[in-house]
Formats: sequence, C-alpha cells, structure tokens
Amino acid sequence: MENDVLINYAKKAMGNAYAPYSGFCVGAALLTVDGEVFTGCNVENSSFGATICAERCAVMKAVSEGCTSFLKIAIVSSGGSYTYPCGVCRQFLSEFMEEGTVVLCDDQTGEMKEYSLDCLIPFAFSMPKD
Ligand code: THU
Repeated sequence: MENDVLINYAKKAMGNAYAPYSGFCVGAALLTVDGEVFTGCNVENSSFGATICAERCAVMKAVSEGCTSFLKIAIVSSGGSYTYPCGVCRQFLSEFMEEGTVVLCDDQTGEMKEYSLDCLIPFAFSMPKD
C-alpha cells in the first residue's frame, strides 16, 4: 500500500482523537502483512498516566483481532510538524514489527518521511529466545 493512502487512514482516525487535556490530536494507521489496515487515535484520561497513544491504540486493535505482524505504520498529528512515536510506542511496535517502516507526515506541508523501526529504536529490548 502506498504511503499516502496509509497516511489518509491515519488522518481520518485523528478525527476521533480524545485529547481534551493536551489538545494534541494524533492518528495512526497500521498495515498488516495480510494487507489489512487498523487505525488508532490517542485517548487521554483525567488520570494522565492512563493515556493511550494513537500507535498503541492501533496495535491493540490489531492484536485483539488476531493480527500480530505488521509492515508499516503511518502517524499524523495536529502538532504542526512531524510526530515521532514516543519511546514506549517504539518498544511496543518492535514486538510485532521487527523490520517495519514508520511513515510520518508533516501536517503543515503534507510532506512525508520514512524510517525503519530499527533506526528509531536500535537494540530494542526483547526476551532471550532459547
Ligand atoms: N501521543 C501519541 O498519541 N503518540 C505519540 O507517539 C506521542 C504522544 C499523544 C499522547 C497524548 O494524548 C498527547 O499525544 C500528548 O502527549
């Protein structure tokens, strides 16, 4: 799937962001190895630490539907530039997306950037395999 198509899914999901505390709306769209798309938005909470980022929202939706292998994630925000995934989301994605691609879109210019997940979280933690 082309990056701009996946970005459009993320933009649509951003419309559902629940961000009354920060006012910072984020949307994410996850492409599975089977070509399915799962979207997510940030969901804030008055107990701030309970907030869920858009990226993890998308991963939760996919995994709970039985999809655990992803190729790409697109991320957009209302922040005025590129929004890089937070550290927790990078680690979370690395569980299901060893060689995945992260596509970011500047909400001001519409320009896109692409990174490998490995470049965003080198030496991600994983449990030793025997
Ligand atoms: N947020 C995301 O949804 N994804 C990120 O990668 C960074 C931060 C959200 C969480 C919170 O609702 C708001 O942005 C401000 O931190």
